[in-house]
Amino acid sequence: MPGLTAPSDYSQEPPRHPSLKINSKDPFNAEPPRAALISSYVTSVDFFYKRNHGPIPIVDDLERYRVSIGGLVEKSIELSMDELRKLPKYNITATLQCAGNRRTAMSKMRTVKGVGWDIAALGNATWGGAKLSDVLEIVGIPKLSANSSLGGRHVEFISVDKCKEEKGGPYKASIPLRQATNPEADVLLAYEMNGEVLNRDHGFPLRVIVPGVIGARSVKWLDRIDIIKDECQGFFMQKDYKMFPPSVDWDNIDWSTRKSQMDFPVQCAICSLEDDNLINQGKITVAGYAVSGGGRGIERVDISVDGGKKWIEAGRYQKDMPYFADDDLGSEKWAWVLFKADVDAPENGEIIAKAVDTAANVQPENVDVIWNLRGILNTSWHRVRVQKASYVAKSNL
Ligand code: MTE
Repeated sequence: MPGLTAPSDYSQEPPRHPSLKINSKDPFNAEPPRAALISSYVTSVDFFYKRNHGPIPIVDDLERYRVSIGGLVEKSIELSMDELRKLPKYNITATLQCAGNRRTAMSKMRTVKGVGWDIAALGNATWGGAKLSDVLEIVGIPKLSANSSLGGRHVEFISVDKCKEEKGGPYKASIPLRQATNPEADVLLAYEMNGEVLNRDHGFPLRVIVPGVIGARSVKWLDRIDIIKDECQGFFMQKDYKMFPPSVDWDNIDWSTRKSQMDFPVQCAICSLEDDNLINQGKITVAGYAVSGGGRGIERVDISVDGGKKWIEAGRYQKDMPYFADDDLGSEKWAWVLFKADVDAPENGEIIAKAVDTAANVQPENVDVIWNLRGILNTSWHRVRVQKASYVAKSNL
């Protein structure tokens, strides 16, 4: 695509915030410190996790940049950034979460393959852009269509970045046409993040945001949007980001037996504490995030300070206001909820958080039951260990 090019090496990467924890340098994969994640409801661009599979593309001439929309449509078009900006603009606050969030903890049970993420491979941003459903109308596909007149059933997003998994080809993914043409699914062609022009790491000049769905489908640096008959056949749809049962290993894996993961399940994590904590005080604050996929809200966050025998309910906040999960969450339905509880710390024990979403889905107790060889969707109860300094002193006597 004119105007947008992809380097073959990592010599032209953008600057990044020094406090990010780097999980892999080339390609650049990094997450913020836990505490930074809950310092604000909307995650700053600097502290938003970065998940890449190749060198970051470069816009050499924005005037020449076009995104093409074609495939199984009567008439293909190309849109410039000016044309996209003239379409109705929506600001959608949505949590983007990598399917590999919390992989490191899954790896402790049995080795899994993939970038080692702690609990911060997600962020909550306000994305600004045009709705994909409006753009598809321009190529003759009405709202709420599951098929195009030429037999298209999926919308494929193709980037320009050079990914080794695609043998040097670009990252790509697709979503069903039914979702793309549904205005309430809020799928965006986003050019802004938190009111600013997207930066290079997050997809400048244009990316997709598919709210409520694992981050892998929100393709950055868009080059083409194609209406296709079957799901995208790219690596990241067919040979990655699928959830296998614990019995499947690299010797007996058959990728075709599982569907590409789309919505993410209910998730929460404590961000005010590390895995191991030595504390002095009796009362501590347990704070973190809770989020569910598919537009489901958060019904409850339960905290236990005795390893799961008794539970108390944490307070929940959204936009810094008390949160009530109901059926009409409006434009915040894709956004996380922050939670907080002041608890009596155990002398020596585990603090646990688990969330329940509005469909009453609850996080699984242990990682064993959801272990999968790619280490995706670790949504097991989040546990941290706490020891009081007085307890440690006594036990060292
Ligand atoms: N799009 C392109 N073109 N290349 C990529 O490597 N990574 C995907 C998705 N879109 C990726 C991409 C994955 S796995 C995730 S989790 C999100 O982008 C991360 O988006 P972020 O870096 O803006 O947080």
